[in-house]
Amino acid sequence: MTYTSRLDLGEHVRKQAVALLQARLSDALDLEAQCKQAHWNVKGPQFLQLHQLFDGVHTVVEEFVDLLAERITTLGHIADGRVQTTAGRSSLYEYPLQASGGVEHLKALAATLGQFGTLVRGNIDEAAGAGDADSADLFTQLSRETDKQLWFVEAHLVSDGTA
Ligand SMILES: [Fe+2]
Repeated sequence: MTYTSRLDLGEHVRKQAVALLQARLSDALDLEAQCKQAHWNVKGPQFLQLHQLFDGVHTVVEEFVDLLAERITTLGHIADGRVQTTAGRSSLYEYPLQASGGVEHLKALAATLGQFGTLVRGNIDEAAGAGDADSADLFTQLSRETDKQLWFVEAHLVSDGTA
């Protein structure tokens, strides 16, 4: 703990919650950069739509980053958003640098969104089990919104509208 607070969660609870929050903070920072990677580099006939879609996902993930970091500081710890930490701790797939066409970018982002969604859904019960219902609620919020963004991305991968 970095400062004395009237917040009534014990340090043991806070430490467990912060470990979960910091792990997802590193992932969310990576995911945020991956959205821009897609936004900048996508090419092809659906360029404008996908360019805008990927920036929309980025805006949502940017909010995730802020929510996670500020919950860590609320719990009296240091939010580590350093690039070096993010690179070392991200558990997400590395974005394929050579991705070019729309489908390649959609699949790359769908893969990492799916991965992030699985991890954050697991964190709901982990945070609740640690005794921090508020962090569990935060993870629930992120999980629900990640599912929605994954739907937006995956909907573009359905070619005939029936699958
Ligand atoms: Fe832009």
